Amino acid sequence: MAEPLGDFTRTHTCGALRLDDVGADVVLLGWVHRVRDLGGVLFIDVRDRGGVTQVVFDKDDPALMAKAKRLRSEFVIGLAGCVRRRSPDTINSKLPTGEVEVVVRRLALLNEAKTPPFPIADDAPVSEDVRLKYRYLDLRRPGLQGNIGLRHRVTMAIRRYFDANGFWEIETPILTKSTPEGARDYLVPSRVHPGEFYALPQSPQLFKQILMIGGVDRYMQICRCFRDEDLRADRQPEFTQVDVEMSFARPDTIFGIIEPLMHDIFAVVGREIRTPFLRMPYAEAIARYGSDKPDLRCGMAIRDLRDVFRESPFRVFKEIVGSGGTVRGFVVKDAGGYSRSEVDGIVDQAKQLGAAGLVWARRAGDGTITSSIMKALGEAGVRQLLEAAETGPGELLLVSAGEPDATSKLLGQLRLNLARQKGLLNPDESAFAWVVDFPLLEWDGEERRYVSMHHPFTAPHDDDRDRLDTDPARVRAVAYDLVLNGSEIGGGSIRIHDADLQRRIFSLLNISPEEAKLRFGFFLDALEYGTPPHGGIALGLDRICTILSGEDSIRDVIAFPKTATAVDLMSDAPSPVDAKQLRELHLLTQK
Ligand code: AMO
Repeated sequence: MAEPLGDFTRTHTCGALRLDDVGADVVLLGWVHRVRDLGGVLFIDVRDRGGVTQVVFDKDDPALMAKAKRLRSEFVIGLAGCVRRRSPDTINSKLPTGEVEVVVRRLALLNEAKTPPFPIADDAPVSEDVRLKYRYLDLRRPGLQGNIGLRHRVTMAIRRYFDANGFWEIETPILTKSTPEGARDYLVPSRVHPGEFYALPQSPQLFKQILMIGGVDRYMQICRCFRDEDLRADRQPEFTQVDVEMSFARPDTIFGIIEPLMHDIFAVVGREIRTPFLRMPYAEAIARYGSDKPDLRCGMAIRDLRDVFRESPFRVFKEIVGSGGTVRGFVVKDAGGYSRSEVDGIVDQAKQLGAAGLVWARRAGDGTITSSIMKALGEAGVRQLLEAAETGPGELLLVSAGEPDATSKLLGQLRLNLARQKGLLNPDESAFAWVVDFPLLEWDGEERRYVSMHHPFTAPHDDDRDRLDTDPARVRAVAYDLVLNGSEIGGGSIRIHDADLQRRIFSLLNISPEEAKLRFGFFLDALEYGTPPHGGIALGLDRICTILSGEDSIRDVIAFPKTATAVDLMSDAPSPVDAKQLRELHLLTQK
């Protein structure tokens, strides 16, 4: 039976009491965390968001004791009592409140609870499906409480920072017209306009650009975005962006705003980061790390080793170089002790990643040289190869050959796998980089047309404009991604602010003037009314919080996330709706 709250008014949270409070009359409100019944004395740990406090019932008050004996884990209680010092042998140094306890005089049993499907008092491993179904219980556990609290402090730091720098936070519509960001839209049928649909925003891209046309000058928003795409550990169908746009901005202007912001965000967890961040052209990121989001914590950059093989007796590589292919490799440090079967294991991994083969060469600690192509190259040849790649004693060189981008991507993946397996990715290190100069367009083989690498509103590089008609694939965009420890935590660009250039880009993307008018007419119109040069960025808040909290999954920093199949296991969304609702929306469904 639930008792009313009555006159129980919280005086302290369960994490607040210290020795200074000894003798004070206090009221605590919270959940029963643990019960310890020692016969004559009953100890209860009471928990709320602030922490845990031990309270004591003793046998002097039999009625109170009888009531307290009914308490079970997760019952909700209110209690009034007096703070006393714990005896030295019962001090709990692990709890901030561990030097005191509260002797209870009055108890209200505010609510009972069923036995939870998993323990709340610790973060013992529980299957994620069960955690998601009972999210309200998972939210009570220390792990999620910490992460959600951290997320709150991060969003507050972000808002303070932007406010201090003259940005306005402005809400943009959720029921809107589709803006392409490369994913499928979530659609919302209109009841009053039969057969017509709103789209949930994949991002507020066009609205923030229109805010610049509207003279807002500096905009930010912590906003929800919706994308119906295949999910991964770092993706959710609805996720949160820190969305930013500035008038009269160059890339440097944006970097100059975002770098100190990242400093403030990391200060929330007491981490000092170094600015300015490294800048790396996209082409270099792909060639040296095989990825447009390189993890720079572990060195092992990929090198071009073609020169070693141009005139080499190792025919396979010589022929690949001769026909325009590449030979690339990277050096693994501290690999002197790898056994032969470990090295063979690496070769197998490379094959699983799609390599035709992987060549290795090693310089042992004592200078001895070994290689999988010793026979073909001879010792002098292997020595030359090791030198070309600057392989030191105790280091292992891994080499692959083929088409340049594919070779780098494969080696990049192998590099990351090894770095993970060998524990070379220090979680306390923050390796930031701006990846810049992305190509403006990429060829979509399926649709047989160019598509935007970022989005169609991204400005081409001034120096590359004359290639727009002649060699569009080689036009660079004024686009940048912010990468942290191998994760893309933000992306943005300087925008096209000239209506004619915007139309030209649409036509390059094979979007006809009619289609452009239909989809983006409002925006093309707005561009004609005095659009300032502008640019911006959006940061992935969930990804940033995942990194700050040291979690592996984005779901662990979101209060109510969805599964990899976009299901909310707690509320059971998506779900069927009744026939009347469908009729009102003029919809017929098909299984
Ligand atoms: P973009 O599509 O690169 O750019 O998105 C910006 C950042 O949002 C995060 N992100 C995601 N996080 C979780 N789940 C997802 N499904 C997901 N998709 C993206 C990433 C990414 O870097 N309008 C442009 C920004 C601009 O040009 O200003 C945009 O949305 O961290």
